[in-house]
Amino acid sequence: MAKSKGSAFFCKECGYESSKWLGQCPGCGEWNSFVEEPVVKTAGKGRGNGINSERLHPVKLSEVSLEEEERVKTGIDELDRVLGGGIVKGGLVLVGGDPGIGKSTLLLQMCRQLVNNGDRKVLYVSGEESNKQVKLRAQRIGTCGENLYLLCDVNLDGISEVIKELQPDVVIIDSIQTMICENISSSAGSVSQVRESTNTLLQLAKGMNISIFIVGHVTKEGVVAGPRVLEHMVDTVLYFEGDRHASYRVLRAVKNRFGSTNEIGVFEMAGTGLVEVKNPSEYMLKGRPEDASGSVTTCSIEGTRPVLLEIQALMCKTNFGMPRRTSVGTDYNRVNLLMAVIEKRLGLHLSECDAYINIAGGIKVNEPALDLGIILAIISSYKDKIIPSNTIAFGEIGLSGEVRAISQVSQRITEAEKMGFTQCIVPYANIEKIEKNGNSSMKITGVRNIGEVLRFFE
Ligand code: TYD
Ligand code: MG
Repeated sequence: MAKSKGSAFFCKECGYESSKWLGQCPGCGEWNSFVEEPVVKTAGKGRGNGINSERLHPVKLSEVSLEEEERVKTGIDELDRVLGGGIVKGGLVLVGGDPGIGKSTLLLQMCRQLVNNGDRKVLYVSGEESNKQVKLRAQRIGTCGENLYLLCDVNLDGISEVIKELQPDVVIIDSIQTMICENISSSAGSVSQVRESTNTLLQLAKGMNISIFIVGHVTKEGVVAGPRVLEHMVDTVLYFEGDRHASYRVLRAVKNRFGSTNEIGVFEMAGTGLVEVKNPSEYMLKGRPEDASGSVTTCSIEGTRPVLLEIQALMCKTNFGMPRRTSVGTDYNRVNLLMAVIEKRLGLHLSECDAYINIAGGIKVNEPALDLGIILAIISSYKDKIIPSNTIAFGEIGLSGEVRAISQVSQRITEAEKMGFTQCIVPYANIEKIEKNGNSSMKITGVRNIGEVLRFFE
């Protein structure tokens, strides 16, 4: 490594470090993302010394004892599930999301639960709001016990001292972009500040065995600023998504060292904070049109839970030479691919149409099992023929138009049955498995390729 020269160039997107400016980042491929920032050599400051010095001898795995209560339940079931069963001691959790989506609210509610029901000591550090503002928010949420401490400061060195003195069980840092380490001279929110701050917090979390929650803002492009640097360092990454103008919010685990990823928790923003939504399928299907063309229900497995979703498609004649394609809530390229498959294998002239695809409810899903539902919705709207609203469809589509097997079919069918669906269109390859499981009250139809799908429109 070269000696500290005073400054270096960092990629704003992924934190890639370079001694000279580059047009394209070799790390993430982003263009024009390099900024110059001063670097300060933090020589010799590693995990080896300081807090962890006494740990420098290896231990046998068999001798590592797990304390009785390694996970702390937050008392908010939807959050516990996303965390993989509760807060892990010594875990570092990053909570990302658009401004105003409810990150501070959720974490404050969690603090309240931990203090009131769990009898824990919690420190809430806010770099964005004053004590009064946090108090005002807390009042909306409800009364809170004695053991919730507030600290409105941005100097991480001072904050570390407070944490060491107070010895809390859980610490909230709201937000990482406002925090400053004194030995780094660049401004708050820059890549090197964010990285150094997170590193300091990481040492604290692992060294003192406390759980730390970090709030991270998301940039326009939808990534936490200074993003992948953070994602590597923390144990768990949670994203808060959903339409800011609608009231529901989806909390999703993108990375979790202590649980399954892609797990979701659904909340609704009310006047008194976030309220859990126990049955997301019911919520996502609320207001679904009865017997309208272009509307098809499907089922996606989010983490460990099946969630029913409505796919809407609107095909209308294009007025321009270039037809418009829009997709909300699912992958744009995937939709284009599926439309190409329909065009080639079924000979429908979709190129004359504008296509708008929407997953109702504002949730973002990318599971291939949605393909069949999307295809049915597109054809339904194109032909203006209805798929009965008691029908649910799922299956992956291949480029030759074949309908491929998917996983956890029985689980999806059970969820559909629970929600009152009576007909199910599934990949033919999955049929055998299902019959063994004996889901009999449901009429199950297997399809081999998208040509067979057309008979539902006769
Ligand atoms: P907030 O938690 O401040 O968002 P973030 O920290 O992610 O930026 O959420 C703020 C929004 O939530 C704000 O628009 C007001 C709304 N809100 C409610 O509707 N009800 C409530 O009880 C609270 C506390 C906030
Ligand atoms: Mg906030």
